[in-house]
Amino acid sequence: MTVRYQHILEQLRQNPGIWLVTGAAGFIGSNLAETLLRLEQRVLGLDNFSTGYRHNLEDVLASVTSEQWSRFKFMDGDIRDLDTCRQACQGADYVLHQAAIGSVPRSIEDPLYINSNNLDGFLNMMIASRDAGVQRFVYAASSAAYGDHPGLPNVEDDMGRLLSPYAVTKYANELYAEVFARCYDFQSIGLRYFNIFGKRQDPQGAYAAVIPRWFINLLKNKAVHIYGDGGTSRDFCFIDNCVQANILAAVTQNPEATGKVYNVAFGQQTTLNELFELIKEMAARFGSEVRESLPVYTGFRPGDIRHSLADISRARDILGYEPLYSVREGLEITGRWFCSLGVQEKTQEAIR
Ligand SMILES: NC(=O)c1ccc[n+]([C@@H]2O[C@H](COP(=O)([O-])OP(=O)(O)OC[C@H]3O[C@@H](n4cnc5c(N)ncnc54)[C@H](O)[C@@H]3O)[C@@H](O)[C@H]2O)c1
Repeated sequence: MTVRYQHILEQLRQNPGIWLVTGAAGFIGSNLAETLLRLEQRVLGLDNFSTGYRHNLEDVLASVTSEQWSRFKFMDGDIRDLDTCRQACQGADYVLHQAAIGSVPRSIEDPLYINSNNLDGFLNMMIASRDAGVQRFVYAASSAAYGDHPGLPNVEDDMGRLLSPYAVTKYANELYAEVFARCYDFQSIGLRYFNIFGKRQDPQGAYAAVIPRWFINLLKNKAVHIYGDGGTSRDFCFIDNCVQANILAAVTQNPEATGKVYNVAFGQQTTLNELFELIKEMAARFGSEVRESLPVYTGFRPGDIRHSLADISRARDILGYEPLYSVREGLEITGRWFCSLGVQEKTQEAIR
């Protein structure tokens, strides 16, 4: 851990705040809630369980002390309802807004549903946060906003044409954030996540992310499908790096920091073929018989970009972001979690 980040965490411990985490029953939200509780903060989680799970909250409960858990409150509610957002924002110092439907294919199938959750819901959260006078509104933006821009690495100001309704909603969030700063002097920070991975990421269903799905498939001796030739690459980023970016964005006192978006990634390309080998290695190390597994190549998926890689220098320079976990280190921790007996059983039960 960098000395600076350690110092910030120490300061938070000494001066605990009240945090609202939307999407707290989801992958990123539950990891944010867990870290904040470990730092002795008060946390209100808001979620409607549309893609999140009660077992994620139970897992947070199992990861913190009973005293830390006593500082957690949960609200079962929907951000599409403004009154719910107002109630949740009451008294919050910081808002980490994660709640959204995060799937590109689902957005192509059902743009109205994605729009109401990701855009109407976002606007409700911004209005409620503004009116409640929260100190900082940090929101989950997305690398999908780069669309088909061909230049690599992706730099925050170089935008391409958007490729999905999901990307439209995430980019529109950024536009609203900019306009709220201009019209109401309501300052916020957007974090453009690249491919975040780690414990509690959902391995199930048609829209599951590649890393949890491959871990579970390998553990169950099922085929791993790769769209295209495996040369497609992504900037995979371990969840603890993403948590760090959120905390830094929430507490930064740098006057230049607000009103901007930041790439949140590791800053390295990994091809799907390389990822497959790494996951296979981890799954084998933690007790699975997968050494001989080979991926099954299927056609390229329409709308998928070929390569993505982030320039993380803005987050580094302004927020002091320093990703502490490489892809390999992150996969090792994630692999241990997926392969741990309890979770494996739970997950297998869920996907049976
Ligand atoms: N995981 C990634 O790699 C990635 C990449 C880019 C952006 N993001 C963004 O990060 C955020 C979190 O993503 P995640 O991977 O944790 O997804 P997730 O599906 O695990 O979590 C999202 C949570 O939001 C909740 N939610 C959705 N709509 C809601 C509503 N109307 N009211 C209340 N709760 C609602 C869901 O139930 C779920 O618990 C999303 O905004 C997503 O678009 C994620």
